[in-house]
Amino acid sequence: MTSLRYQSWKVAWTFFATCMLLLSLQIVYGFIMGFAHMGYDVLHDFIPFNTARATHTNLLVVWLLAGFMGSAYIIIPDEAQRELWSMKLAWVQWASLVVVGVVAIIGFHLNWWEGRKFLEIPRPLDYLVVVNVLAFLLNIGMTVFTGKRYTTTALTLLAGLTAAALLYLPGMITFDSQVYDSYFRWWVVHLWVEGVWELVMGAILSYLLIKLSGVDREVIEKWLYVIVGLTFLSGILGTGHHYYWIGTPEYWLMIGGFFSALEPLAFLGMALYTVAMARRGGRRHPNKVALTWSVGCGIMSFVGAGFLGFAHTLPQVNVWTHGTLVTAMHGHMAFWEAYAMLNFAMIAYALPEMTGRKLYTHWMAEWAFWVSNIGMVAMTGAFAVAGVTQVYLERRVGMDFLAVQDAVSIHFFGLILAASLFTVGIAMFIVQFIQYGHPLKMPVAAQPGEPDAAPVPAK
Ligand code: HEM
Ligand code: HEM
Ligand SMILES: [Fe+2]
Repeated sequence: MTSLRYQSWKVAWTFFATCMLLLSLQIVYGFIMGFAHMGYDVLHDFIPFNTARATHTNLLVVWLLAGFMGSAYIIIPDEAQRELWSMKLAWVQWASLVVVGVVAIIGFHLNWWEGRKFLEIPRPLDYLVVVNVLAFLLNIGMTVFTGKRYTTTALTLLAGLTAAALLYLPGMITFDSQVYDSYFRWWVVHLWVEGVWELVMGAILSYLLIKLSGVDREVIEKWLYVIVGLTFLSGILGTGHHYYWIGTPEYWLMIGGFFSALEPLAFLGMALYTVAMARRGGRRHPNKVALTWSVGCGIMSFVGAGFLGFAHTLPQVNVWTHGTLVTAMHGHMAFWEAYAMLNFAMIAYALPEMTGRKLYTHWMAEWAFWVSNIGMVAMTGAFAVAGVTQVYLERRVGMDFLAVQDAVSIHFFGLILAASLFTVGIAMFIVQFIQYGHPLKMPVAAQPGEPDAAPVPAK
């Protein structure tokens, strides 16, 4: 019988299960909005569009964070080669995250929320988030610092997660001025996805590539430095692409345009890094599906974040596209391809390691990847057609907002079809997740510590 390498993997599994649940709920709210866009807003009295939207996007952020935390509970002990500092704290931290999430979602439905996109959760809950994240950081931080070895991968992951926590704070300051409020909101939203989350992404991919490709840690971690460098070089001042039209000084047009145009480089680095390592290592690990998710994440994040981000980042373009469905087009693909797929890659790697079941050889494992990705590409296409049409009719022709929404509603039929395909892919992934069973009762190996790369399977 297989055994878990570390006790903490049980918490990790619980976080991953939470991800699957919240993602499913997120998709339900996506459909509610898709139908509302088509004119079938039957749930309006109970779940108006703004509630559905806040629920959809906040569920996304919570499940992605839960996935990062689960990943950290696997990676950090494995890299530090010691058991997690406190298992009890980890369980309490998981439970409190769930409490915050549930209360926030119920709150949105009762109109208890702050009207700030992505930061809708009310202030009292923000304090709980802070306590939760501090507990999490204390736990993984102590594990790293009392561990047997410090690795670049673990330190980058810790740094990324710590910086993400710190950057949450500017979003909690209360301002009378809408301009200041907006200005600091982007410190959270932008500096997360185009800054410190990229460190988390680089580190998790590094861990996965070390395990899956068999390439030396030194080589992989050198790439990680390059990615971190490119991220900071472009992403920090790149925040300026959100300061074009919110009442901030005009110099942001130049600064934001220039630096954000460099941001795709970090994602290009991510793409080349995964492809180069997968090729060089000759895909030695038997879990090819986890490698497919990792390489897919690297390549496609360049498309969704890098390319589609660049498409509307220059002020000359953004002046027309700002706040339209073009933004939703980019938002979907970027979030899915970079951060959702990153978590899927980690889950696809971790579950067989935990349970010893080799479901990755099952046809459904590969189909889950392809069907969800083809679905998401098609969804992006539907948003793109709707978005470009919206920009043209509303901002060039000057038609009324609602008349334009009516004109583009047909494209949401396409969106629903594409989203259905995407959902089939996700359902396959979740079915497999369930089939892996739950490793909560499994024994834990007596002697932690493993060589970096998995053994080469016999030919
Ligand atoms: C599968 C079913 C899904 C459907 C039908 C759907 C549909 C929608 C719709 C209609 C909106 C609102 C657009 C508007 O403002 O009018 C929206 C917003 C959003 N969704 Fe989804 N979605 C789905 C899944 C996802 C997934 C899997 C992700 C991320 C991985 C995601 C990320 C987002 C984001 C980030 C926004 C906010 C976009 C913005 O800032 O403009 N959605 N979604
Ligand atoms: C994985 C990384 C990324 C994710 C998850 C992401 C996601 C998003 C989301 C959700 C929004 C809507 C935010 C809001 O209105 O509150 C947004 C806006 C934007 N993103 Fe990204 N993005 C990423 C990377 C990039 C990159 C690399 C660029 C530029 C090269 C970029 C350019 C933009 C621009 C210009 C906007 C503003 C759109 C507007 O004016 O309405 N993004 N992004
Ligand atoms: Fe940004």
